[in-house]
Amino acid sequence: MKSSERAQQIRGLTDRHNEWFRESIPLIASENLMSPAAREVLNSDLHHRYAEGLPGKRYYQGNIYVDEIENVCEELARDVFRCKFADVRAVSGTVANLAVLMALSKPGDKITAVGLSDGGHLSHAKMGAIGLRGLRAHNYPFDQKEMNIDPDGAARLLREVRPKLALFGQSVYLFPTPLEELRPALEEVGCAVWYDAAHVLGLIAGKRFQDPLKEGVDVVSGSTHKTLPGPQHGIITSDLAKERLETSLRRGVFPGVTSNHHLHSVAALAVTLAEAQEFGEPYADQTVRNAKALAQALYERGLDVLCEPKGFTESHTVVLDVEEHHGGAKIARTLEEANIIVNKNLLPWDTDPVHPSGIRIGTQEVTRLGMRENEMSEIARLMTAIIIDRRKPSEILPSVKEFKKEFTKVHYCFFEGEEAYNYPRLDGQL
Ligand SMILES: Cc1ncc(COP(=O)(O)O)c(C=O)c1O
Repeated sequence: MKSSERAQQIRGLTDRHNEWFRESIPLIASENLMSPAAREVLNSDLHHRYAEGLPGKRYYQGNIYVDEIENVCEELARDVFRCKFADVRAVSGTVANLAVLMALSKPGDKITAVGLSDGGHLSHAKMGAIGLRGLRAHNYPFDQKEMNIDPDGAARLLREVRPKLALFGQSVYLFPTPLEELRPALEEVGCAVWYDAAHVLGLIAGKRFQDPLKEGVDVVSGSTHKTLPGPQHGIITSDLAKERLETSLRRGVFPGVTSNHHLHSVAALAVTLAEAQEFGEPYADQTVRNAKALAQALYERGLDVLCEPKGFTESHTVVLDVEEHHGGAKIARTLEEANIIVNKNLLPWDTDPVHPSGIRIGTQEVTRLGMRENEMSEIARLMTAIIIDRRKPSEILPSVKEFKKEFTKVHYCFFEGEEAYNYPRLDGQL
């Protein structure tokens, strides 16, 4: 293939991807849609530039406006997350986690975290960032019925292990972490307390989930593109006015784990945070309402939705055990054939990550597209037509496409109602 054909191939595949998502129901709990205003600055000359260090103390020229953008972004982050310190330079949630590890631990230190099959993230595990930093990880006991850390067991573990760092936060995150109940043990041990808010950052911004900084956590890290509908990027916040902590966190990010920090993303994050100030509360509220409504509708139609006695969820996430329907991998693939996009997920009792029994669903992106409780009932109907009634995905696909036609615009943002899937295109072939 000629190189022009290769490039043309990629243009064509990208077009097809965009079209596919225009016609799909996006239910991955870690994804979202940026606003038109955030996308505008993301796709700007900022993308081509370098700025190492901090505003006013750069290693390159050309950063006059970059410095202002970064200062405004941090100011907005401090305001939205109601805290004294924010660093917006980590280029992803994992990189933010690496920066915190650089700042607050040394190789050989002990850390406590949620286990992978209980909803912890790869970067909280030996095979990921924690292993890379050479830490010894101990997992909290997990209450499978409550789908949460077992507070008594976790307090015992903390007192036994006496970790340098206690990490909380999950990728399968249904209910707030029992931080208040763990407070006496954490204070007794005197460890640094770190909360990975990647999944729930947009809900915290919208005051619809626990505020970890107000509950005494020292440091919060997160991705900025899950419930917070921003660019693919990372953030670190803290409410402690401790100069040494701030300096270590700053150094952890740069030169610790980044050089340039993707300036177009900082600008897009700033716009996203400004929009969160204005629209964050109704968006977070509707996201959680939608998650509860979808869980209830799936449950009423006969699926095994986790945690029914607890109201299923207090976040954007819903978890289903689909083992009796041939497991999470098969169901996720089959739904994809009908343009319903979810992911297979380990449940706490699973051992095989390739064939887990669960699927995880998030309502944040469909909420951004303007869907409400009625639409959750329709999504449950479409999903159960495949999972329970065993209808062929190809029979359901036309209804999914028809349903989605009404939901192609972005909400809870400036320029509300702009098309979500229109991207700038050049005319002609290569
Ligand atoms: C709890 C948690 N932390 C960190 C990350 C990593 O984020 P990123 O993909 O931005 O590196 C994720 C991603 O799914 C996550 O769920």
